[in-house]
Amino acid sequence: MEKSIDIRMVPEKNSEAHNKFYTEIISGLKDNPKHLLSKYFYDEKGDVFFQNIMKMPEYYLTNCELEIFTEKKEELAKAIKAYDEPFDLIELGAGDATKSSFLLDYLVKQKADFTYMPIDISGNIISILQNNLTNKIPDLQIIGLNGEYLEMLDKANKISSKRKVILFLGSNIGNMEQEEAYQFCKELKQKLNSGDILIIGFDVKKNPHTILNAYNDKTGITAAFNLNLLDRINRELDADFDIEKFQHYQTYDPMSGACRSYLISLSEQTVTIGNQEIYFKENEAIYMEVSQKYSSEEIDKMAVRTGFLPLEKISDSKKWFIDAIWQVD
Ligand code: AVI
Repeated sequence: MEKSIDIRMVPEKNSEAHNKFYTEIISGLKDNPKHLLSKYFYDEKGDVFFQNIMKMPEYYLTNCELEIFTEKKEELAKAIKAYDEPFDLIELGAGDATKSSFLLDYLVKQKADFTYMPIDISGNIISILQNNLTNKIPDLQIIGLNGEYLEMLDKANKISSKRKVILFLGSNIGNMEQEEAYQFCKELKQKLNSGDILIIGFDVKKNPHTILNAYNDKTGITAAFNLNLLDRINRELDADFDIEKFQHYQTYDPMSGACRSYLISLSEQTVTIGNQEIYFKENEAIYMEVSQKYSSEEIDKMAVRTGFLPLEKISDSKKWFIDAIWQVD
């Protein structure tokens, strides 16, 4: 999911979203080892932190994929067979569509016959995106879909029976554990038809220092991004985390490619969330997020194992990021 700085709604108390947030937070913190879900990083403040992460010199991912979408539009257009027949271009987690808008603009100028369908969990983001893109690319046909990825894909299939091209950019697949990523791709494939195409962005295994630096910045923005989830729990779930008593800790394992973040309790302490008490030992960790890195071979393997045909891999000049093009046979 590309994240936007636009205002996100705080789930109303006792709404389904609020209750789910509470249940998932409590069950994660009562588990052993403790864990939280990184999908909850992105409230209004979290969106701003993530925008700032994307501007950090250490966080190379955004610029690498931006280079692909600005310098290799022609290759991308050919790889998705943009001129063969009309199609729907569906972006999962479109956000502000910074990268994809370069491809959209190019395809419109080349007179490709397509409708852009951005999907995002935030309705606010979708309506802002629709306005912005219509101003920027007046000839673009656009239908915004607000909701969960796979549910909205079903909706897109009901709206139109045209060939589908799916964009899943930004290494968002990396925020799933590998097994989960495999499962997600399999489910995605089941919703597609023969000839449909997926463009999926992967961060490539590279020098471990480069990767670790991207998630362990000296300015502390990534630390603040992680700690903001505790703050969000305080704000929305009536909790009393003392943020000063937790410290961000990042690891990267060059063998598995897993870059993981944790928050460490700096003292023995008990935190109250609503009517629940959570006990922390000194130095106990909460596991927060995985940002999984893949080798070029592992990317092909994932395509084949989840039922796709790997067609092509388009990378930036440093070969640090890959947008893989997979087809449904
Ligand atoms: C959104 N996602 C792809 C980012 C990543 O690189 O895993 C989230 C992030 N976490 C820390 N820095 C950036």
